[in-house]
Order: sequence, then C-alpha cells, then structure tokens
Amino acid sequence: MAIIKKFRITTFKKEVHKVSLKKISISYNQRQILDDVSFNIREGEICGLLGPNGVGKSTIFNIIVGLIKPNYGEIFINQKNVTSIPIYKRAIDFGLTIVPQSGGVFSNLTCLENLKAIAEIVIKDKNKRNFTIEKMISKFELDAVKNTKSKHLSGGQRKKVSIAMALMSDPKIILMDEPFQGLDIMSTRDLQETIVNLQTENNNRCCIISDHAARDLLAISDRAIILANKKIVAHGTPSELIKDTNARNLYFGDSFQIN
Ligand SMILES: Nc1ncnc2c1ncn2[C@@H]1O[C@H](COP(=O)(O)OP(=O)(O)OP(=O)(O)O)[C@@H](O)[C@H]1O
Ligand SMILES: [Mg+2]
Repeated sequence: MAIIKKFRITTFKKEVHKVSLKKISISYNQRQILDDVSFNIREGEICGLLGPNGVGKSTIFNIIVGLIKPNYGEIFINQKNVTSIPIYKRAIDFGLTIVPQSGGVFSNLTCLENLKAIAEIVIKDKNKRNFTIEKMISKFELDAVKNTKSKHLSGGQRKKVSIAMALMSDPKIILMDEPFQGLDIMSTRDLQETIVNLQTENNNRCCIISDHAARDLLAISDRAIILANKKIVAHGTPSELIKDTNARNLYFGDSFQIN
C-alpha cells in the first residue's frame, strides 16, 4: 500500500463537485434499496464505494450514468442537474464512462475487435486510434489473446478488455464497478497504478470505484463512502474509516486492517 500511495498527488484536491447525488431513493417492487442517499464526489478524487452485497452500489452507478431513474432525488454532474438527461448525452457532454460489474464486452468479437469497435466511435484520428488500441493492449497485457473471441477469454482477461474499452475515450468521470474482480495479484497492482496514473495525468478527472477487495481499493482511494441498510453509514479518508464505529460494525468487521 505504501508503494501505491507514494504515487499519489493529494495536494491539488479541490472542493469542486464533479458528481453529486441529492436525496436519492429507489425501490424495486416495493422493496426500498436506497433511502435518501446524498454525496458529493470532488474533482481530482478517487472515491471508493463500499458496502455489503445487494446494498445498492451498482444501482448508484446505474443512476449516475442514466441507465435507471431514481424514484426521488436529483443527480448533478459538473454542478448541472442531469436527472432528465439521457445516458448518451451524459457520456458525451461530461466524459462519463463506466466499467460495468459484468459484461461490457461483445462476446462474439475478439479482444482486438472489441477495442476497435469502441475506438471507431470515440477516436476520430486514425493514427491516434491505432496507437491507443496498441497502448491498451500493451498496458493490459492482452497481446497473446488479442485475436481470441471474448467469450473464450478468462474472467480476468475479459475484465481487462472492458476496462481498456472504458478508458479508450480519455474519460473525465470514471465509474468502475468491481474492476479488481478476477484479477491476479500483479494485475491488481498494475490496475491500481493505472488508476492512480489517470489521476496524476489529469487532475480534473475523478474516479468512483466499487469493489469488495476493500484493502486494494482503499490503498488508492482519497476518500470512501460506506453504504449499509439503504443509507450512507460512514464516509471519510481510509484511515478515518477504519476507526469509524459504524464502518466497523456494519461493513469491515473487528479484525479488518489496511496495513
Ligand atoms: N431491476 C431490478 N429489479 C429488481 N431488483 C433489483 C433490480 N436491480 C437491482 N435490484 C436489487 O437491488 C439491490 C441492490 O442491487 P445492486 O446490484 O445495486 O447491489 P450491489 O451493492 O452492487 O451488490 P454486489 O456487491 O453484490 O454487486 C439487490 O437486492 C438487487 O436484487
Ligand atoms: Mg454490484
């Protein structure tokens, strides 16, 4: 963790809000999932989103990108109310991208074809497009499988393709839903560095990341939010959170440590 942290730039974090949820509530079939959830994600920040299975983390991502509409509440991106703005416009206007919890790749296309399919849409210049595809293949060590159909890739390799696809557009707001899932130890470490580098390269970017690999996530997070029982029960820096009684009782448990 210490090695990751030394790459981090924390001094330029500003109080400019990139993403805000205000009083969000949502129910499915009369079962309430989120109740009056509000938070702000700051420009330049990596924010962890933690909580038990089924608490509503993926639901929050879907609400931010515009895949689902909350029953109550509002969503702001760059301080603009986007609650009624459709998914494609949120993506284009605000550079919003998501690595979904599962899927996100075309299973009958090869790894290379998947990357090309996205690159054709998001990168106009042909040389830059080819360069970016090659860069992603190299960054995520996909060279040996670039001509393999995605349905025949391992779980971790498929995850890497979906992350590479999400990063292709030089996004400004990056949502990652369980990006470490299925990654081996070295690949986890590489992805942590990739995420920290995204922050270092452009301090207007922000990343919101959900993952059950809480230690790996907290190692790169500036702040994290903990959800339990439909609500935010704790938020703060990783070192504040591991001492927080609610966070320990409702999510981390007694024996959890981050170093
Ligand atoms: N379309 C839907 N219809 C009915 N229930 C849904 C729907 N989508 C999500 N849910 C329910 O909402 C709850 C929250 O789901 P969500 O996927 O957001 O959880 P999560 O926090 O991401 O969990 P995990 O850590 O397991 O990924 C779950 O109980 C799920 O069954
Ligand atoms: Mg989820």
